Amino acid sequence: RVMAGRPRDLAGRKVVISAGGTREALDPVRYLGNRSSGLQGYALARTAVARGAEVTLVAANVSLGDPAGAKVIRVESAVELRDAVLSAAADADAVVMAAAVADFRPAVRHDSKIKKTSGEPEPIELVKNPDILAELGERRRAGAFAPARPAVIAGFAAETDDVLANGKAKLARKGCDLLVVNQVGEGLAFGTPDNAATILAADGSQVEVPRGPKEDLADAVWDLVAARLS
Ligand code: CTP
Ligand code: CA
Repeated sequence: RVMAGRPRDLAGRKVVISAGGTREALDPVRYLGNRSSGLQGYALARTAVARGAEVTLVAANVSLGDPAGAKVIRVESAVELRDAVLSAAADADAVVMAAAVADFRPAVRHDSKIKKTSGEPEPIELVKNPDILAELGERRRAGAFAPARPAVIAGFAAETDDVLANGKAKLARKGCDLLVVNQVGEGLAFGTPDNAATILAADGSQVEVPRGPKEDLADAVWDLVAARLS
């Protein structure tokens, strides 16, 4: 896709984007993971660079080439992703959490490979991971970052069933400014070049983005971010 012809409306703005999906180690060779490809996060990074932003891309387990002009930080687990995002967010104008963050991780990471034993396998005990999106909002309210930063905090939510109601409840619960809600299932979203979504804003407004390339959804997000930064 052509990156030219976009407004330079993010010039001088620092944006942080998380992409991909976290992996939570069980032992040196195994992990719990998810199907996120990182395509939407990378589309956000490419379009933000094209619109003039200084981009930090925190990438979890993606097999995609680094977007030209972005600073890429590679991470594996939710805890690593949290550390990278929170430190980059300190002086950012906007943070967009496109990564699929594992909600839970194994309580124990074994130092040696778990061996197949004669009896039944041990159950895997899980503990909760930090909620990075919620923490960004909490920290901003507590004044932990640079004054009034990040000005815009955005998340993504893949939902089934009552997609909009779930999205609105999540936006309120997370305390973010924008939530991109998309319906999953039926070959939508995961690993596909196309995406369709509704972007919900904390002020109650909503924008429909029809099914199309992930760059189109990315541009719709940056339109809303740029409007809130100006
Ligand atoms: N997210 C996060 N930290 C987590 C989990 C999710 O920052 N531990 C972010 C994701 O990057 C995404 C948004 O929160 O931008 C919504 O993720 P989602 O999994 O839909 O939200 P959850 O609160 O985990 O709710 P659910 O029970 O539906 O999984
Ligand atoms: Ca989740």
